[in-house]
Amino acid sequence: MEKILLHTYVIPVKGVKKKTVYHFSDSHLTEYDALSDEKETERAKKQTESWINIRQSFTSAYSEPYGEMQAKSAIEHFSNLIEASADGDALVIAGDTLDYVSGANVRITNEYFEKVRCPMMAVCGNHEKEAEIPEEGLISMMKKPVQKIEFDDLIIIGFDNSQRVITKEQNDALKQALSSGKTVIIAMHVPIMTVGNEHALRRAGEYFQLNYDGCPEENLEFINTIKANAGSVAAVLAGHLHFICNSEITEGVTQYVSSQGITGNLNKYIIGE
Ligand SMILES: [Fe+2]
Ligand SMILES: [Fe+2]
Repeated sequence: MEKILLHTYVIPVKGVKKKTVYHFSDSHLTEYDALSDEKETERAKKQTESWINIRQSFTSAYSEPYGEMQAKSAIEHFSNLIEASADGDALVIAGDTLDYVSGANVRITNEYFEKVRCPMMAVCGNHEKEAEIPEEGLISMMKKPVQKIEFDDLIIIGFDNSQRVITKEQNDALKQALSSGKTVIIAMHVPIMTVGNEHALRRAGEYFQLNYDGCPEENLEFINTIKANAGSVAAVLAGHLHFICNSEITEGVTQYVSSQGITGNLNKYIIGE
């Protein structure tokens, strides 16, 4: 039995030395351990139970596989996804790593992040309340509004857009990365509604869109900056939807929305020349 569901994409980019980037999202960890009190243990058990049904409702609604492999626990999937990413040049975790912030979920996340040997980022999802994420440990990276992994010829820049808000500071950081002359990959939790995914995202609801009707001006500026710099943006990586939903933001710039980590989905990008 395969341990993960791998989706491989080739993104040719002139001037970028070939690299492998892994991306997954929505692991929704619901752990408890020896240090958990009764309340935390009960919550973990209850949420683990709920996710057995929730993940299946996504696979069935969007015709994705659900069998013995997909039915494994959230933590088994998370462990397998980290392990399968080991040969990458970079790892992007696009939010909802934790189903909720708790002592045990934080401890286990730190434990697995410490195993990662390549540069990584984990952006905040709407299930991780940024204010509740501790200041210590690798998990604290989720508190950052902007994260960066920088190579000689490529920048991966991650944004916390978990509240469906882009700030001026984030727009400035995007513009700065784009002015570097390097190719840029953008990572975030909530996807952009595009011409190609509009039907699916409108059906899913406003909760699943960065550019919902009446959204802040800065959100639209963020998207317009991507469109205006299409030649420099190799890809946009997002999560949150729990089903595969890839589409072009503008000609030549594809947004890859990973399916749920809680059924073992891993995206692999072979980027460069
Ligand atoms: Fe999620
Ligand atoms: Fe989410």
